[in-house]
Amino acid sequence: MVSLVSVVVVAVWAMLPAYVPNNAAVLAGGGSPIDGGRTWRGARVLGDGKTWRGTVAGVAVGVTLAVVQNFAAAPLTEVGMVTLPTFPVLAMVTLPVGAMLGDIAASFLKRRLGESRGSAVPGLDQLDFVVFALGLTALVVPGWFVDVFWYERLLFVVVVTPLLHLSTNYLAYKLDLKSVPW
Ligand code: CTP
Ligand code: MG
Repeated sequence: MVSLVSVVVVAVWAMLPAYVPNNAAVLAGGGSPIDGGRTWRGARVLGDGKTWRGTVAGVAVGVTLAVVQNFAAAPLTEVGMVTLPTFPVLAMVTLPVGAMLGDIAASFLKRRLGESRGSAVPGLDQLDFVVFALGLTALVVPGWFVDVFWYERLLFVVVVTPLLHLSTNYLAYKLDLKSVPW
């Protein structure tokens, strides 16, 4: 039987380098927008909410976290009851880069739909980064992806991430770090 605790713990552990970049981008964001203010078909390409600083900081924090987790995996596995996976170098990159790309792709889509910066598109806002982070990882490091995520943990990630994302964004809004609660 698959223990629920181990599914949850390993899923969250393996997704941390994809979860944290978005929050880091919120904290670090500002400065030049990636699209340089350019418009396409009457709307911004991405908008002022996607900046170079936020994106670079997000990726840097995600990669750094994965490095730290690789050092921590063995000692934590020792004291806990759950075997924590380490990240191969490629996954250390695909998880944060995929997360940032998904968020950027969602902004591109939102601008095409005529949605202004900060508007909420339920579903898209909560899953964009998960789909891209996991998709890119599955493409680039399929063996590791299957080992770590297939398939109870994948199910858990897809179902629980939106809730996690909504609650951290609400917290960021309450702390005045974000102007809207989503
Ligand atoms: N941010 C950033 N660069 C990124 C992602 C986020 O600088 N690549 C910062 C921006 O300050 C942004 C904030 O984090 O306003 C919140 O991110 P998000 O909710 O993804 O952006 P929105 O402002 O809601 O813009 P959009 O409607 O395009 O999603
Ligand atoms: Mg948003």
